[in-house]
Amino acid sequence: MELLFASHNINKIAEIQQMLPSGIRLKGLSDLGWETPIPETGETLEANAWIKAEALFQKTAANCFADDTGLVVEALDGAPGVYSARYAGPEKDASLNMAKLHKELQNKTNRKAKFVTVIACFWAGEKHQFIGEVHGEILEEAQGNKGFGYDPIFMPEGYRISFAEMEASEKNKISHRGRAFQAFLEFINSQTF
Ligand code: IMP
Repeated sequence: MELLFASHNINKIAEIQQMLPSGIRLKGLSDLGWETPIPETGETLEANAWIKAEALFQKTAANCFADDTGLVVEALDGAPGVYSARYAGPEKDASLNMAKLHKELQNKTNRKAKFVTVIACFWAGEKHQFIGEVHGEILEEAQGNKGFGYDPIFMPEGYRISFAEMEASEKNKISHRGRAFQAFLEFINSQTF
C-alpha cells in the first residue's frame, strides 16, 4: 500500500521509508506533483501537523500523515516552539536561530528545554496522533558539527554531549522524532493491510 507524507523534504522521506515495513511505499508531496508548501498558520505544533495532514487527506482521501517539531525552552515560556525554524527570521538560518536563542537566554539560569515532535495521521479515514519528546538543556557554547538546526546547543538529559556530537543512529534512538516515529510505527505494524 501507499502512505502519503505531507513533506517536500527528500531526506526525511528517505529516512522514514527505511523504517517502514516493506509492504508500504512512502510518497512525499513532490511525488504527487504538489510543489507549493502547505502554509503552517497554526499556533501550536499539533495545529500545524493537523493543518498539513488535513490538506493532504482532503485532496487524496488516502492514508497520510504530517509532522511538526519545535524546541520548547522553559525560561522563555515555551519559545521558540512552533516558530523554531524561523525564530530569527524567514531565512530559517540555524546559526542565526541559535544566536538569537543565546541572546534571549542571557542572564537566565534555567537552561531546561525539550524537543517535541507531533505526528498527525489519517489511517483508514480516522485520525491518530503520536508525540515524541526529549528533555535536555541549552548549552552556552555550540558543541559538535553533526545533525542540523539547534543540535549543537542541545544536550539531552543523561548525556554529556550535544546532539551534534552524536551519531545519527544514537540520536534517533532517543530523539523527539525518533520516539514519535517509534510510536507511529508500532501503530502501523499493529494494523492489517
Ligand atoms: P520541522 O517541523 O521538522 O521542520 O522542524 C522545525 C524546526 O525545528 C527545524 O527547522 C529546526 O530548527 C528545529 N528542529 C527540528 N528537529 C530538530 C532536531 O532534531 N535537531 C535540531 N533542531 C531541530
